[in-house]
Amino acid sequence: MMLQCPRAGVRNRLAEGSFVRIKQQNNYPPDRDSLSGFFYFAKLSAMNFWQKLKKPIMAIAPMANVTDAAFRRMFAECGAPDVFWTEFVSVEGLLSRGRERLLPDLWFSENEHPIVAQIFGGKPEQFEEVGALIRELKFDGVDINMGCPDTGVEKSGGGAALINTPGVAKQIIRALKKGVGDMPVSVKTRIGYSKNEIAEWIPSLLEEGLAALTVHLRTRKEMSDVPAHWDLAPGIVEFRNRLAPQTILLGNGDIYTLSDAHARVKESGFDGVMIGRGIFGNPWFFSGRTPDVRERLMTMIKHTELFEEIYKSNLPKKEGALKNFDVMKKHFKAYVSGWDNAKELRVKLMETENASHVRNIIEKFLASSK
Ligand SMILES: Cc1cc2nc3c(=O)[nH]c(=O)nc-3n(C[C@H](O)[C@H](O)[C@H](O)COP(=O)(O)O)c2cc1C
Repeated sequence: MMLQCPRAGVRNRLAEGSFVRIKQQNNYPPDRDSLSGFFYFAKLSAMNFWQKLKKPIMAIAPMANVTDAAFRRMFAECGAPDVFWTEFVSVEGLLSRGRERLLPDLWFSENEHPIVAQIFGGKPEQFEEVGALIRELKFDGVDINMGCPDTGVEKSGGGAALINTPGVAKQIIRALKKGVGDMPVSVKTRIGYSKNEIAEWIPSLLEEGLAALTVHLRTRKEMSDVPAHWDLAPGIVEFRNRLAPQTILLGNGDIYTLSDAHARVKESGFDGVMIGRGIFGNPWFFSGRTPDVRERLMTMIKHTELFEEIYKSNLPKKEGALKNFDVMKKHFKAYVSGWDNAKELRVKLMETENASHVRNIIEKFLASSK
């Protein structure tokens, strides 16, 4: 059964056709040979999409094992943000023999433009080559993660560890810029490592002429455990206005509704916001619609079937699964909440192993609650 998401104002770019044909229609995975000659150079010269966006800019946050192609495709249908982001991908991994396994994290469809690829790593010499790859994959922009607190990521010298090595962070930006040509380079970071370091860290990044800078308004030490420090936003805007007025500034942290998003932009002076946990289970976030339970559940089925189709999650790994079906379970939790008997349904969904199990359970639930 196909579910039509109703129109959601100007932001909504309704996808055409069947999800079942997604690969043929949208070139999964992107065909690099098709990018050649005049078209390639025409595309490069049409860059910096950031400057063309209407403000306030609303972006979906990069989130590992959340913002994959299936998840983003649901937003493209139900109410698209102004900018999509991929999950982050290791630069080191993209240069290794394991690259083939990472490339699915960089798949996207034509309905997800503008889309930014996020990468992480700590070795400047690896960024130029990866930048050239991102450019070939036809992304609209590339973003460097300088805020992830994961110990594995930090061990590589990347993520939040770069806040402690601003010289390396600069070299990374410069190397990436060489690799991507005209494609806009952005950074997503935090306000400091163990304490507020805005006064040194933010200018050091702004000096590099970034197309955009996203600031998650917490320190690395704070993880996501304290309320985001939105009171620090005006100071960041002041640095931007003085040092790099052309750099687009996005704020991030604790935005759970569209009206929160607009209020934060207004108070802060940022050009826009990036939303993370607030969009879980809610592909209608940017449309401002609140669908009923039936529509939520039917959309969840569609999301699950799309995930399975793209990542073959119904197969064992050695037979070609690209992502584990369990990735969907955090989405189930988010879609199935906010009504009386939701918990019972959630518990059943936690036991599922593929999309047809999910469809059976939901169809039975909806039939019994008529
Ligand atoms: C499950 C999960 C995965 C995340 N993965 C990434 C990532 O790959 N790259 C990144 O820059 N931030 C990542 N983040 C951080 C978010 O992008 C965002 O900065 C953080 O959740 C704060 O925003 P929020 O309060 O709106 O959720 C992740 C967060 C979550 C919850």
